[in-house]
Amino acid sequence: MATDVHRPVTPKTADPALGSPAHPAPVHPAPTPASAPHIHTPATTPAAAPHAVHVEGLTRSFDGRPVIDDLRLDVRPGEFVALLGRSGCGKSTLLRILAGLDRDIEGTVLVPRRKAVAFQAPRLMPWKRVWRNVLLGLPGKPERALAERALKEVGLDHRSGAWPKTLSGGEAQRASLARALVREPDLLLLDEPFGALDALTRIKAQRLVGELWQRRGCAVLLVTHDVEEAVLLADRVLVMDEGVIAYETRIDLERPRDITDPRFAEVRARLLERLGVDTAAEAA
Ligand SMILES: Nc1ncnc2c1ncn2[C@@H]1O[C@H](COP(=O)(O)OP(=O)(O)OP(=O)(O)O)[C@@H](O)[C@H]1O
Ligand SMILES: [Mg+2]
Repeated sequence: MATDVHRPVTPKTADPALGSPAHPAPVHPAPTPASAPHIHTPATTPAAAPHAVHVEGLTRSFDGRPVIDDLRLDVRPGEFVALLGRSGCGKSTLLRILAGLDRDIEGTVLVPRRKAVAFQAPRLMPWKRVWRNVLLGLPGKPERALAERALKEVGLDHRSGAWPKTLSGGEAQRASLARALVREPDLLLLDEPFGALDALTRIKAQRLVGELWQRRGCAVLLVTHDVEEAVLLADRVLVMDEGVIAYETRIDLERPRDITDPRFAEVRARLLERLGVDTAAEAA
């Protein structure tokens, strides 16, 4: 698995394991003026990589206010991790950093080179047919068949030639997932991908993501507000607060998970408590 390292020129935390004398790290110009040049180190040996994601000492501030503050996070290859936290705590900011969309950071971020992201809004280009949207941004001239294979995986190959505006919300979200899958990611980043779907479509989409993850074996980081969704899908659930991962719990329940299982309810209640939701009041 090829890896990217995003870190400032003077990293807060030096980690010699992330560089390689055999591959001098090229310095890319910063996306914003002079403030944040970053080093991308080419792949180290995949077998030696113990993590799909390794984040250390990560800080991201807006207008002098740290939203992420000395955060540490590791995700194993193939692990499904869900990220919860109150609105505005920095979940999307973290996800955008992992996706390489925000590099104005301090600290070290090591992610697979092959990563893909899907957001709450499907973000399809209305002037491109569905299959062209799926291939958007891929290098070279990929063939339609490639898009159709990914669309088939999400049950949407019959809408390959459709215009985005003719898709339902659930279909558009599946097209967005196909666009992520076509990149064969080692890391799939999902930012509330089911947030705008109705309850039934949401359940179907959750199942689909669970199946895709098991089939593909990529690491997944799913940002969600839905505690039940997190417990249903994840190997590990994290709660973000005050700019760090404030709490985490491993979900050892066998799959497929049963939401009526008392152990499921126990984990759910514990997480709700960590999120400051009064479950007694909720039940009343
Ligand atoms: N580009 C930006 N400029 C200034 N402030 C920003 C920017 N992006 C995010 N923020 C601020 O950083 C904080 C964290 O935002 P973020 O979008 O990461 O929250 P979140 O945890 O994803 O919230 P939600 O659950 O509501 O999606 C918020 O206070 C937000 O206003
Ligand atoms: Mg968000």
